[in-house]
Amino acid sequence: MSHADPTAKRPRRFLPAGPLKGRIRVPGDKSISHRSIMLGALAVGETRVTGLLEGEDVLATAAAMRAMGATVERTGEGAWSVHGVGVGALLQPAGPLDMGNSGTSTRLLMGLVASHPITTSFVGDASLSKRPMGRVIEPLSQMGASFEPSEGGRLPLTVHGACPAVPISYRLPVASAQVKSAILLAGLNTPGITTVIEPVPTRDHSERMLRGFGADLNVDIEANGTRVITIRGEAELKPQTIDVPGDPSSAAFFLVAALITPGSEVVIENVGLNPTRAGLVGVLRQMGGRIEELNAREVGGEPVADLLVKHSALKGIEVDPAVAPSMIDEFPALFVAAALADGVTVTSGLDELRVKESDRLAVMATALTAAGARIEEREDGLVITGTGGELLPGTPKGNGEAIATHLDHRIAMSMAIAGLASREGVEVDDTRPIATSFPVFEAMLERLSA
Ligand code: S3P
Repeated sequence: MSHADPTAKRPRRFLPAGPLKGRIRVPGDKSISHRSIMLGALAVGETRVTGLLEGEDVLATAAAMRAMGATVERTGEGAWSVHGVGVGALLQPAGPLDMGNSGTSTRLLMGLVASHPITTSFVGDASLSKRPMGRVIEPLSQMGASFEPSEGGRLPLTVHGACPAVPISYRLPVASAQVKSAILLAGLNTPGITTVIEPVPTRDHSERMLRGFGADLNVDIEANGTRVITIRGEAELKPQTIDVPGDPSSAAFFLVAALITPGSEVVIENVGLNPTRAGLVGVLRQMGGRIEELNAREVGGEPVADLLVKHSALKGIEVDPAVAPSMIDEFPALFVAAALADGVTVTSGLDELRVKESDRLAVMATALTAAGARIEEREDGLVITGTGGELLPGTPKGNGEAIATHLDHRIAMSMAIAGLASREGVEVDDTRPIATSFPVFEAMLERLSA
């Protein structure tokens, strides 16, 4: 009897297909899913979650919260029940916390552990083990926690939580919702008031959800747009019922896929459009993308709509770097749209893309070039000269070789949709990472092109 090797890469060639037609519902928002489990695990009583993203990243968070004493159970498709232990009552896990590929799990949980009497190690895959953790180690050390990281402030690392921790006032040196959230979560079990000063706004799910769970959290916006977020510690969280809206970062692949595939008309239902997340829709519209918002409403305290998207003649633009934080995970998909647009697209201010699941500027530049696009890689962005039509591997510098995805789900999905607009298709070296954030991506793509 032969068994497939579970460690083997899973390559796949994504071929051009007919127009994409139909309605889809993308899975729940990854950021909100992580936070639902973490905050549910800190509330006393039962939190019920529907629409939870059942991707590997969120499952890593669920396993970690179980290891620290919470009961986290699946009750149906996307339906989960979390019985929390209460702020301050997390338990010492028996072994290292395996974070897999998930930066969000790692950084937010480092914050939680930092103000509990817990010593634990965090481990992760090869991609996560290259990512910088110094950005959370620094403020959490100021709060009294201590760290034994690997070289360069990376995983594997051990955290010794401080109890009681010391409240700090911290100005974020990088626009990062993960760093902000790590400090706010540490602040939950810290006596007094913890303050985060955010000069450039980033996704605000932590603030919205902490408030929803009953934390005493306040946001002041100064005249220059700087946000001053305060949280009163030793909080008591009340369990909630949460309906997680669809993930705009997952919707992004189908938005771009429909825009670049002639004859397409797709409705993506229930997409979260929180203004700190929705930058891509505006940028694609500026490029000439036909995207309509239908049935605008609120789900789980977040603005949501169904998006109707039709194939469009896209044109290159200069993307305002100020929108970057509101679409930070969507640039790989945008680069694909730009590679097929008519004219030049210039992006800048994207240094943060170099420390995501892969170096997304370098990896997308290489990948799109191999698929037949014209790309100039700069330090903080890409300049893309679109073909105005389709990608032709073999010209001008493309060689049609398999795209190296470097354990990065968003590279794999972006290059999969590039395949739709490529004469000979695009071979992706490994589709397994897609399961971290969007396990049903390939099935959905097949259904729309059937
Ligand atoms: C996330 C924040 C972003 C984003 C990540 C999820 C979050 O990271 O890239 O996928 O849930 O807070 P940064 O805050 O580091 O930019």
